Amino acid sequence: MIMALPLQIFITYFLLITATASSRFHSKPLDAAPSPTSPPAGFTIELTRSNSSSPRLPNDVDGSSPYADTVFDDASYLMKLQIGTPPVEIEAEIDTGSSIVWTQCQPCANCYNQKGPIFDPSKSSTYKPQKCDDGPCPYDATYADKSYTKGTYAFETVTIQSTSGQPFVMPETLIGCGHNNSGFSNASSGIVGLGWGSSSLITQMGENFLGLLSYCFSGQGTSKINFGTNALVSGDGTVSANMFIKTEKQGFYYLNLEAVSVGDNRIETLGTPFHALDGNMVIDSGTTFTYMPESYCGEVKEAVESVVKAERGASPSDNLLCYNSDTLDVFPVITMHFSGGADLVLDKYNTYVTYGAGGVYCLAFMCTDPTSYAIFGNRAQHNFLVGYDPSSLLVSFKPTDCSSLWS
Ligand SMILES: *[C@@H]1O[C@H](CO)[C@@H](O)[C@H](O)[C@H]1NC(C)=O
Ligand SMILES: *[C@@H]1O[C@H](CO)[C@@H](O)[C@H](O)[C@H]1NC(C)=O
Ligand SMILES: *[C@@H]1O[C@H](CO)[C@@H](O)[C@H](O)[C@H]1NC(C)=O
Repeated sequence: MIMALPLQIFITYFLLITATASSRFHSKPLDAAPSPTSPPAGFTIELTRSNSSSPRLPNDVDGSSPYADTVFDDASYLMKLQIGTPPVEIEAEIDTGSSIVWTQCQPCANCYNQKGPIFDPSKSSTYKPQKCDDGPCPYDATYADKSYTKGTYAFETVTIQSTSGQPFVMPETLIGCGHNNSGFSNASSGIVGLGWGSSSLITQMGENFLGLLSYCFSGQGTSKINFGTNALVSGDGTVSANMFIKTEKQGFYYLNLEAVSVGDNRIETLGTPFHALDGNMVIDSGTTFTYMPESYCGEVKEAVESVVKAERGASPSDNLLCYNSDTLDVFPVITMHFSGGADLVLDKYNTYVTYGAGGVYCLAFMCTDPTSYAIFGNRAQHNFLVGYDPSSLLVSFKPTDCSSLWS
């Protein structure tokens, strides 16, 4: 998910406070993670997939969220974390589009109905509020779909059970304790920010993890996330895109989209306002659809329209291109061309989604206002092992049957 624009300045302000306070944390050796001379660390965990009933979508042009009543398979991926001492297990959405780790907390001024108990800091012996001049440091994060969380920052022990059976313990992890939270799926008890910002989970894992993470999302079956050395992506079929980091855009990983091919018809961003050299699209594990500005997106839609002979179908929004069809066969293959040499041939399942009772497929690309972020969403990333390597500034993609990879 992407944080909404106006609040970014606000959040950055708190992240600055945070950076000072948490440097203490970074220099403190952890049980499992370690001084710079220790060998690099890594582990893997399983994810569960959730069909969100409350879509995690950026604001539409008119500022409303027109898809809230639709029944798209609007998936997010959840990881288990244990918070506090004794540990309380929660499941939270993994999100490379933000950099705060938060969970709903007691006492709740306004909490949504989550699965499982809400974390109660008064019952944890390791909970330490982060102190600001006038009490605990507040945080306030609003995401692009208008979901928000407000609460206070605290240092707390976070334990992650890896697939190897070895728990990874992160004492004094900066987390947001959310007392007023709204707009999130009740399957998830919070969000695990995985951006490059100082308070994200991957950054707080420490230098030995090198900021490395990778995931493999599957529509059915197992999905996984890997951290540190387990997250390296290489081997047959691996392609890499340049990663761009913009210091004024807290925590986002950018890719630079050069062109989209619809079948053999290659549509360049060059000549449109979307064209850039330094990153024009955020790669996000926490947003389902792919979003591009109308100026360019319209051309891609037209190219699809010129190929598909099926009858146009009922669309839940003017913004979507839908057809009556029982099969994906009528649709062209879409390839996304990213700077650095990653030409991603998307499976049709990644590009066209069905909704409602079926019989209708819609292109999973949404055209947005040019002031909104362009987002490479998680549906398009299905069945790629996607690896983020901030030290070499690359995002690598390896075509992978994610559901069979670890079985
Ligand atoms: C999620 O949605 C898909 C497709 O609509 C469905 O097949 C699947 O069973 C749903 N999964 C859950 C956990 O509800
Ligand atoms: C929660 O935050 C919203 C949005 O700012 C605000 O309108 C509401 O009053 C808050 N609720 C409580 C109980 O503090
Ligand atoms: C989550 O929300 C759905 C839809 O509103 C509801 O059917 C379900 O019972 C809720 N689950 C929990 C655990 O509250």
